[in-house]
Amino acid sequence: MSTESKVRAVTTLRLKEMKDRGEKISMITSYDYSMATIVDGAGMDVILVGDSAANVMAGHETTLPITLDQMIYHAQSVVRGVNRALVVCDMPFGTYQGDSQAALDSAVRIMKETGADAVKMEGGAEILDSIKRILTAGIPVMGHLGLTPQSIHKFGTYTVRAKEEAEAKKLMDDAKLLEEAGCFAIVLEKIPAQLAKEVTESLSIPTIGIGAGGGTDGQVLVIHDMLGINKGFSPRFLRRYANLHEIMTEAVSHYIEDVKSCDFPNQNEQY
Ligand code: KIV
Repeated sequence: MSTESKVRAVTTLRLKEMKDRGEKISMITSYDYSMATIVDGAGMDVILVGDSAANVMAGHETTLPITLDQMIYHAQSVVRGVNRALVVCDMPFGTYQGDSQAALDSAVRIMKETGADAVKMEGGAEILDSIKRILTAGIPVMGHLGLTPQSIHKFGTYTVRAKEEAEAKKLMDDAKLLEEAGCFAIVLEKIPAQLAKEVTESLSIPTIGIGAGGGTDGQVLVIHDMLGINKGFSPRFLRRYANLHEIMTEAVSHYIEDVKSCDFPNQNEQY
């Protein structure tokens, strides 16, 4: 069976069932085959091919520069490594904020060319036409509210969003709009825990939080951050589960030493 025709064990319906029975949803980013194989094998529920690839894979300051072709390449690589998890691919900046037909064309390319199960889009009322058009084509959409990194130039800062009442109300209204439109889940990024809890309780679809406290239906982190590959990024919400930066630096330094000292390769490591 080809990767593209697999029906994976975790579906959008299963995520809704998990919310209904109070089982938390695990989600993490991946951008390549090897990482996706490890993450899927560990039993992750959702794998996000995030446009954070622009930061952690390509070294850009923001997520804005990544292109549709580049997202498709990352998603194709991830899908090849996944058997069980639901794979969601971010729609990159500029592919859905204007004309809804162009948005649909981009979403169709992602689904056709990658074998991903769903797309994710940042924003609420402003992009509702595009969301609805994509949904009518049968493509599942995950929403993303709160700190939406594609709008960083509008916000001017990566600090917590929706602390003020007006922004909190708009976020709640947007969440309802996304649910009514038919989104299957919503990422809530960097908003007060109490607001995330209220949004979660007011929706029948799951919410997945990042920096939004424990009251959401699931949690998502960027894999490079939680594995400690990025040394310089330490927001309060981040829990590091490993220090791969140190482990990898040590391993690579050791290899350099062995090459320089002619210790590698030895008799057993040659033909
Ligand atoms: O691109 C990404 O990694 C994301 C997560 C932070 C939710 O959108």
